[in-house]
Amino acid sequence: MHNATLPIIAILGGTGKEGRGLAIRWAHAGYAVIIGSRDPDRAAATAAELNTLLGKEPIVRGLGNVAAARECDIAVLSVPYEAHAATLASIKETVQNKLLIDVTAPLDPDNKRRVRRLASGSAGQEAQQFLGENVRVVSAFQNVSYTHLANLNEILDCDVLVCGNDKDAKRQVIELARAANMIAFDAGPIENAVVAEGLTAVLININIQAKTKSAGIHITGVPR
Ligand SMILES: NC(=O)c1ccc[n+]([C@@H]2O[C@H](COP(=O)([O-])OP(=O)(O)OC[C@H]3O[C@@H](n4cnc5c(N)ncnc54)[C@H](OP(=O)(O)O)[C@@H]3O)[C@@H](O)[C@H]2O)c1
Repeated sequence: MHNATLPIIAILGGTGKEGRGLAIRWAHAGYAVIIGSRDPDRAAATAAELNTLLGKEPIVRGLGNVAAARECDIAVLSVPYEAHAATLASIKETVQNKLLIDVTAPLDPDNKRRVRRLASGSAGQEAQQFLGENVRVVSAFQNVSYTHLANLNEILDCDVLVCGNDKDAKRQVIELARAANMIAFDAGPIENAVVAEGLTAVLININIQAKTKSAGIHITGVPR
């Protein structure tokens, strides 16, 4: 059963690989989770699959992205960079005064092994600028491979870098990472999101060379 004292999380693009993985981890931890999609039927089908995997009372719902953004306390944007601007435009009004976590890692469309450098700085900065100051944008989870998220008993071998301008919003995201069995670090203002987003391209190269899909990062030299 979900814990009604916890915030409701909507994952926009939650039908995809990363969004599904995060959804199952948070639902397992007791959060009410809404899968968002451009297609409400696809969202409902993904929600049903996740409820079956979780094997308990239904805790995951599926809705269109706008309705999901309306019904949540915390929105998580988990779409390819190519869909970033359009998805943000569709939910701009509904996420006002909420916390939005941006998971997007922009990659070069001609070569996914190469980082995509944006004139704006980063996807996280674009989200903050586009949504305005009343939305607390936090950039996080870009370096967490989807491959192990669904193995609920596995401790994830990847730390989370959390960037944003609002200290309390970052604290909430660090708590969400902990609930999903990961350790997260406040990595500074939203301008620093470019570093976390860029690291994803680095990890993709390491994965290709090591023939894996689960390369991650660890912060060393600090208490864990
Ligand atoms: N995969 C990973 O291991 C991983 C790890 C860390 C970070 N990330 C980042 O997380 C984000 C999501 O990654 P993913 O692997 O989950 O992506 P994905 O599976 O390719 O796509 C996620 C969802 O985005 C929506 N979408 C896809 N193309 C779209 C388009 N052109 N316009 C609008 N919506 C579109 C789709 O939802 P609907 O069709 O249902 O609307 C799709 O299910 C990316 O920015 C990625 O860089 C991924």
